[in-house]
Amino acid sequence: MNKNSAPVRGGKPFIAPSVLSADFAKLKDEIQAIEAAGADWLHVDIMDGDFVPNLTMGPFIVEALSRICKLPLDCHLMIQHPERYVEAFAKSGAATLTVHPEALGDIHGTLDTIRKLGVRPAMAIKPATPVSVVKHYIDQIDMLLVMTVNPGFSGQKMIVDCLPKYAEARATYGPDLLLEIDGGVMPENVQAVRDAGVQIIVAATAIFKAPDYNKAVAELRG
Ligand code: DX5
Ligand code: ZN
Repeated sequence: MNKNSAPVRGGKPFIAPSVLSADFAKLKDEIQAIEAAGADWLHVDIMDGDFVPNLTMGPFIVEALSRICKLPLDCHLMIQHPERYVEAFAKSGAATLTVHPEALGDIHGTLDTIRKLGVRPAMAIKPATPVSVVKHYIDQIDMLLVMTVNPGFSGQKMIVDCLPKYAEARATYGPDLLLEIDGGVMPENVQAVRDAGVQIIVAATAIFKAPDYNKAVAELRG
């Protein structure tokens, strides 16, 4: 992976449904439905019950997803000590591995390892973390995920004060850094999200809780 593999879809954002809100009792059907709806990536929220107060999936589930999903797996690691797990996630089929600078552990070393494993390295920042933190890692990442809710749960309301961070990141780090949003994106606020310059839109509730996935994906893309 390199920066040339940036999403391009006629100037429209990529849509990455977060599997966190899918019905895991019929996971294969859910994945096939969002593929048919035109989703571009599958966002996978990995939580350890320590960095965030919720516990979700590990490499075992990512490996199963890689067998039932044709889309690139965009794995968001909300975990302490990501250096202990990135190799397992890479072997399980992750296309992107996103780590938090607020997590415990060797974040520089983790990003280096991700790159060496042939996976796209990315960084996610919590709402209270300034964009300036990214300067310490900018040579190591291809994508910045600016979170618009505090990580841990889907279904939260977007913190709209975070939206100016995309313009700040673009102005500070240039045109090659992919910019992704995660948290509270809904049909009511997606126009502001697109206007902010976001290239990849993650959404759990707005897609998996919608009655019609095709319509939901199309509406978010605009
Ligand atoms: C939150 C996760 C998000 C979450 C988004 O910690 O990182 O990916 O699933 O859910 P919605 O779209 O419902 O805010
Ligand atoms: Zn996420």
